Amino acid sequence: MVVTGAGTGIGSCIAECVAMAGADVTVVGRRQAPLDELAERVGKALHAVPADITAPGAAERIIQAAVDRFGKLDAVVNNAGVARFGRLEEIDPAEFDTMLRVNVRAPAELIRCALPQLRAKRGSVVNVSSVGGALSMPGRAFYGASKAALNSLTRSLARELAPQVRVNAILPGPVDTPMWRDAGMTEAEQRKLHDDLSAATPMGRFGDGHEIGRWVCCLLDPNLSGWVTGALIPVDGGRTA
Ligand SMILES: NC(=O)c1ccc[n+]([C@@H]2O[C@H](COP(=O)([O-])OP(=O)(O)OC[C@H]3O[C@@H](n4cnc5c(N)ncnc54)[C@H](OP(=O)(O)O)[C@@H]3O)[C@@H](O)[C@H]2O)c1
Repeated sequence: MVVTGAGTGIGSCIAECVAMAGADVTVVGRRQAPLDELAERVGKALHAVPADITAPGAAERIIQAAVDRFGKLDAVVNNAGVARFGRLEEIDPAEFDTMLRVNVRAPAELIRCALPQLRAKRGSVVNVSSVGGALSMPGRAFYGASKAALNSLTRSLARELAPQVRVNAILPGPVDTPMWRDAGMTEAEQRKLHDDLSAATPMGRFGDGHEIGRWVCCLLDPNLSGWVTGALIPVDGGRTA
């Protein structure tokens, strides 16, 4: 299986959960060091492929590397993503292009390149989207739009690729990860958003990455989810309830 954005945050928890469940995992991210730290922590030989998923030809190289290593590929977890926040009049429109490239186009390209393998194995795709793709989010409109596009891609491809390949998405609520630090906010803005989001979440807290990872395992498992495709599953402490 391929897990993108696996060096940090939610992706590292997903990689940990699927590896514990016995999967052969190719982990992808731009930086080698977090991938090495993950492999050390998980204590199982993970296959690290450092790559920028938006680079020309990257998807093909990643899929080929996974197949060369394990001889097959039965799942793709599109977790890598970027978030750049800011109100419409403040945010650099180039940030929108970046989010569309990383959050939408690259996942589609990885699925496309993996298709022959996924079809042969009756495999499965899980896209890590966001509640931001389903809620209105002033100050985070571009990020939300990119995740709404990923949700749409998930539902359309689920129909297009059935019955051989299942395509689902998890929509996490807020999880404490490096993403928040990289989103273009001051520390004070980050603290305020953290408090506001905790208050807006019925369960009263941020989620843990493993709470997302276990759901990814569940969706990938054909015994549990063999009849589930095109599902957008909020794992969000009730944020969208
Ligand atoms: N944290 C939350 O509250 C939350 C809520 C809802 C949804 N999500 C989604 O969950 C996913 C994981 O985010 P996170 O919160 O865990 O943040 P994170 O720790 O920043 O993880 C993002 C990962 O994506 C990788 N990445 C980014 N751009 C890449 C590129 N061009 N090529 C390859 N890898 C790339 C990063 O690694 P490198 O920098 O080494 O490339 C990083 O490991 C994202 O899709 C995010 O939108 C997060």
